[in-house]
Parts: sequence; C-alpha cells; structure tokens
Amino acid sequence: MYATSAEDFGHFPFFATTRAEAHIHNRQFDRPTLVIDADAIAARFRALRDGLGRAAIHYAVKANPAPEIIARLAAEGCRFDAASRAEIELCLSAGAAPSDISFGNTIKRARDIAFAHGAGLTLFAADAEEELDKLAAHAPGTEVYIRVLVGATEADWPLSRKFGCAPAKVEPLLARAARLGLRAVGLSFHVGSQTRRAAMWAPVLDEVAQVWHAARAAGHGLELLNIGGGFPAFYGEPVEAPGIYGAQVMGLIKDYFGRVPRVMAEPGRGMVAEAGAIAAEVMLVARKCDSDAYRWVYLDIGKFSGLAETMDEAIRYQFLTGREHEPSGPCILAGPSCDSADVLYEKRPVNLPLGLKAGDRIIIRNAGAYTASYASVGFNGFPPLDVVVI
Ligand SMILES: Cc1ncc(COP(=O)(O)O)c(C=O)c1O
Repeated sequence: MYATSAEDFGHFPFFATTRAEAHIHNRQFDRPTLVIDADAIAARFRALRDGLGRAAIHYAVKANPAPEIIARLAAEGCRFDAASRAEIELCLSAGAAPSDISFGNTIKRARDIAFAHGAGLTLFAADAEEELDKLAAHAPGTEVYIRVLVGATEADWPLSRKFGCAPAKVEPLLARAARLGLRAVGLSFHVGSQTRRAAMWAPVLDEVAQVWHAARAAGHGLELLNIGGGFPAFYGEPVEAPGIYGAQVMGLIKDYFGRVPRVMAEPGRGMVAEAGAIAAEVMLVARKCDSDAYRWVYLDIGKFSGLAETMDEAIRYQFLTGREHEPSGPCILAGPSCDSADVLYEKRPVNLPLGLKAGDRIIIRNAGAYTASYASVGFNGFPPLDVVVI
C-alpha cells in the first residue's frame, strides 16, 4: 500500500497499491499518461524465470516497446521476440545481442528478413510456403520454427485463425524448410492472450503435442518448442502468481511432450501489464434522457488512444477514482472521440461513484500492456497515450 488515508492526499484520497499508482497520485498530467515501473517489470521477469525454469524468456516487445523497458530487460538477461524491423532495431539499440532476438512474426517483408539476417538474428517464425521461400532467399541456413494453428483456446483475448498453419501442413512445411537448406528446429503456438489459469493450457498442449510427436516419428529432428505468450495479468478476476503459473505450465509441457531439448516462451502482457497505470480524466457525465437507466461517463482516453483491448469488452480494466468511499452505480463508459465505436463498456456496465464529474482524475489499473503501443497518432486530434517510465 502506498497511500493509506485521505489526509495523506488531501482532496484525492486514492488507495494506490503500486508504485505507478502512487506516482500518478502525486502529480498532475495534462494528457492521458501511462506510468510504468521498470523495477516491477524486472521483478516480474525474475518471478516468471523462476517458474519457467529452463525455458528461455523472449519478451514480446509489442506489449510495451518503451525503450527504457527494453534496456532494463536486456540488462536483466531477458531475450526478445520482435515483430518487425523497428522492434529489432529497438532491441539492438537497447543492448540486446542479435542471437537473443527472435523474429516471431509469421508475416515478414523480404527486405526486413534480409536486414535481420544481416544484423545477426538466427531464429525466425513461419507458417506458410512463401514465407519459407523468403527465409531461404534472404536468411539462408537460418533456424526456423513452424507456427501451429490451435483451436481450443480459453483465453480472454484469443489470437484466432490469423496465425499458424493447420496441423496437417506442419510436416510438409518442415520438409520444405529442410529442402530449402533451412534448419527446421521446432514448433510454436500461442495459447491466446490472457489465459487466466495454467490448467487452461491443457487442451492446446494436447493439440500441439500430437503434431510434435507425429513430426518426430516421421523423422523431423525437432528440438525447440516455442510456447508463445498467454501469461495473464490481474484485471479483477483471480489469476495465479507468475512463478506458480509458469511452473504449472512447464509441468504440463513435460506431461504432454516428454523431454523437449529447448523450450522458449514469449510473455508480453504477463510481464508488463501490472507494472503500469494510466492517469486519465473524466470529460463528461451525462444521461441521454431523464428515464435513462445508466449514466454515460466519457473519459479523455478511449479505444483509439490506448484502450483498444476493450474491443468486445474483452479486457475489463479496473478503475480508481478517489471516491471509493462514496455510493456508486452502473454506467456506460466511453472515450472522447467522435466515433461511435469508441464505447468501452456498455454490454456490461461499469460500477463507478455516483458523484463522479467532469474534471475528476481517474486511474486505470494494471494497464501497462497493449495500451501505449495500440494508441493512434492523434485520431480527432486527441494525443496518443504519453508514457513515463519510473
Ligand atoms: C508471436 C507472439 N508471441 C507472444 C505474444 C505475447 O502474448 P501475451 O501478451 O499474451 O503474452 C504475442 C501477442 O500477440 C504474439 O503474437
């Protein structure tokens, strides 16, 4: 607990439970700002590393690419999963060794593959014939893992059909990679982002293990299993602590796969979400008509300026208003832009204090992942989410 009483903070009696929240509490911000705590991220990395044991951790840079975070994680010995040339350059400039960066996007431009290869990267993802052809042409002899499409996800933010190939295509792709002179070292999958409990991995591991065992039986010398991300953050529903969660996932991998020579994981959300909080402001509280069941509460941040993951109300953030001691009631929460899609929570209204009014500060908790990196450059003239690393 960083703040304990109303007297500590005058008119703004927040009950901050993290350093990021306490930092927001004590300062003024003139635009929506994500405050994120690098020490908390380093601690999270160590906890996950303890749980995941011998698995190599490649932080999924897309979750939050703030240069200070990348540099801190590089100094901690973390590796990186990059989705683009820009993310590779960011990791390199933060001090990461090229051999510690994997190019994990299955959709890469040929010239970006050439850049990565030239920079010294040695590990790439693919899920299609043409991608293997590009790799053979522009990163000859490199290591490649094949991403498998999985169906059994129970994640709050599933990654759906866009990535991976059907299990039946895995062996032909491994064979093609070998024919092209690539080192087809393994398989990858993603269980779906925000998979709240480790036990939810079991059906996906079962699917992928069948593909793994069949490929090995067919003579493919698989050695690397990339288990992707999916490690959860706390958004109100209970989640296991990262060390316990990681250890349980590794236990399940042993059950389904037996001994795997190399395991790697690509946590994004689970590394950074709980280290960050957003300072935002209420812009308007209104009712559409006197008989309206719910108030509308409009914030200065919305779907286009950092809260994209409220799409389909999938990720449900928690809020601090400093009015927690006042009576509360349900409201529809919306962003500030002139786009009717910019409604955050309507199907399941949010409970907020009835006294909330324009100008009030509001803190969005555990918002360090997929917020700043999702903000548009200035839709409607609203600035993108500012980031302060403490
Ligand atoms: C290839 C890959 N790895 C890792 C991640 C990170 O996932 P998460 O934030 O659920 O840990 C993603 C997220 O989109 C991804 O696409």
